[in-house]
Amino acid sequence: MIGLNNFYISNTGLLILIATVGVLIIAVAHYLIIGPHGKRLGELEPEIQRLNYLEILAHFIRMVSFVLLAITGVAFALYKNMGFSYQFLLHIHLFFGVLFALASLVSIVVWIKDNTFKSYDWEWFKVMGGYLSKNETHAPAGRFNAGQKLFYWCSTILSILIIYTGYILAYPAQSAISKVLSAALIHGISAVILIAMVIGHAYLGSLANPGTFGVIIHGRVAKEWVKVHHPKLSD
Ligand code: HEM
Repeated sequence: MIGLNNFYISNTGLLILIATVGVLIIAVAHYLIIGPHGKRLGELEPEIQRLNYLEILAHFIRMVSFVLLAITGVAFALYKNMGFSYQFLLHIHLFFGVLFALASLVSIVVWIKDNTFKSYDWEWFKVMGGYLSKNETHAPAGRFNAGQKLFYWCSTILSILIIYTGYILAYPAQSAISKVLSAALIHGISAVILIAMVIGHAYLGSLANPGTFGVIIHGRVAKEWVKVHHPKLSD
């Protein structure tokens, strides 16, 4: 644990750079080399309700609070106050930390059933959902595809770790110093991994898949979008 702690402390800047700029470079390279999936799907009328209002609201609060937590968290990790007082940034971090915890709980519960793996998910993994090919692939997928399910479970585990360790860090006097130090390490590493994953997720939910971004605003998609991305739903 001490070795990992030292590694994290001396390489925090580099790890954050890889998780942000590194992932952005991969996304731009993917967009330029492979390109978006089903460009035409972004031009069709979204007429099928994919997410309900609770799902949209919980995702929206989780998304906005995560972005603010990431910005303030990176500021703490790099000792940059961006012109604000430490107390102000801490209040923002704690306030949105509570919102993130509540919204994560709702998202995790309402989506758990649709994210259980099915045998056909292997077919999706075998072709990596078609993301490594320029040709349009109709890999089997139900309400969520295998990649989304993997993201759901990883983001669930990381969110829980971040929330639990965040709670320990918010009340350090209640725990032994060794527990607080371990919590700080797990909080930082989990957050860096989740930041990298969320940047990839945001790319896949917008530029990489035209016609998808609107889902988190109005909840609707085009009929053809469902056929291409979630063929098992339109069977
Ligand atoms: C930061 C900007 C974000 C954008 C642009 C974004 C975009 C999207 C979109 C478009 C969908 C719907 C995908 C579909 O219906 O097929 C979605 C779903 C989802 N989002 Fe986000 N999201 C963001 C942040 C987050 C964050 C911070 C989390 C959790 C920590 C998260 C977790 C999820 C999960 C679990 C789903 C359902 C499964 C999936 O589509 O992968 N999102 N998001």
